[in-house]
Amino acid sequence: MTAQLIDGNALAKKIRTEVAGRTAALQARGIEPHLVIILVGEDPASEVYVKHKVADSAQTGLKATLERYPATLSEDELLARVHAHNGDAAVHGILVQLPLPAHMDAHKVIETISPAKDVDGFHVQSAGALLTGLPGFWSCTPYGCMKLIESTGTTLRGKHAVVIGRSNNVGKPMALMLLQQNATVTICHSATADLGAITRQADVLVAAVGRRKLVTADMVKPGAVVIDVGMNRGDDGKLAGDVDFDGVKEVAGWITPVPGGVGPMTRAMLLVNTLEAAERAAK
Ligand code: GUN
Repeated sequence: MTAQLIDGNALAKKIRTEVAGRTAALQARGIEPHLVIILVGEDPASEVYVKHKVADSAQTGLKATLERYPATLSEDELLARVHAHNGDAAVHGILVQLPLPAHMDAHKVIETISPAKDVDGFHVQSAGALLTGLPGFWSCTPYGCMKLIESTGTTLRGKHAVVIGRSNNVGKPMALMLLQQNATVTICHSATADLGAITRQADVLVAAVGRRKLVTADMVKPGAVVIDVGMNRGDDGKLAGDVDFDGVKEVAGWITPVPGGVGPMTRAMLLVNTLEAAERAAK
């Protein structure tokens, strides 16, 4: 193996310690950072995600309230709950777990969350703030990827960063964050011709498509920083990324594992955003 491992668990732990310290400082001033998580229905994956978010919050001293509703909840009832939390000064972050039941319009629900409490960074105003460089909340997964890249000591200025994937919550914000750090950015997607020809130019390569082993060793520039956002469950039940880890680790300079890379950082950045929301509200 030539690549150095980027340990997402270790970095997330360090960030949680920092969050715990800042949370204690707010609490000393009588402010209790508070995240409300709304879960509608019983999607098994969502149950696991939400359980982790509540546990992470408790571990860092943040208050987390989980509101559970049956899948039969009407959209109007959900919007009423979001409005109530928007108006509650004791609530700093609001997270509506996705996916929502089919009878609900997820866009409409997300746009109802106050941008000041949008700790997921999914609101159009949050996306616009990132686009224009204004203060706002950054989507947790690409934000976590930026921290992972930073942890390698890589300077992004003038580097070629290639993002594979163009989702609203990962690919597009990832490209904007890299651009903000003065990287030259290319976004690749399902219609990209000759993906390998582009990825081989990447000093920093972020894979966020959800296709097992899409990125193979021959597609990676020697010494590149490779960030794997993929979380694909194989036939063997094991979690695997979008990157062929065993092959690519022989070529890359730095690489994130799956699991233990981006996943823990997504969770850590939600805590950071929630704390940040409480700090801003306290100003
Ligand atoms: N479903 C899967 N991941 C996420 C996330 O980060 N935020 C929300 N709200 N829903 C999700």
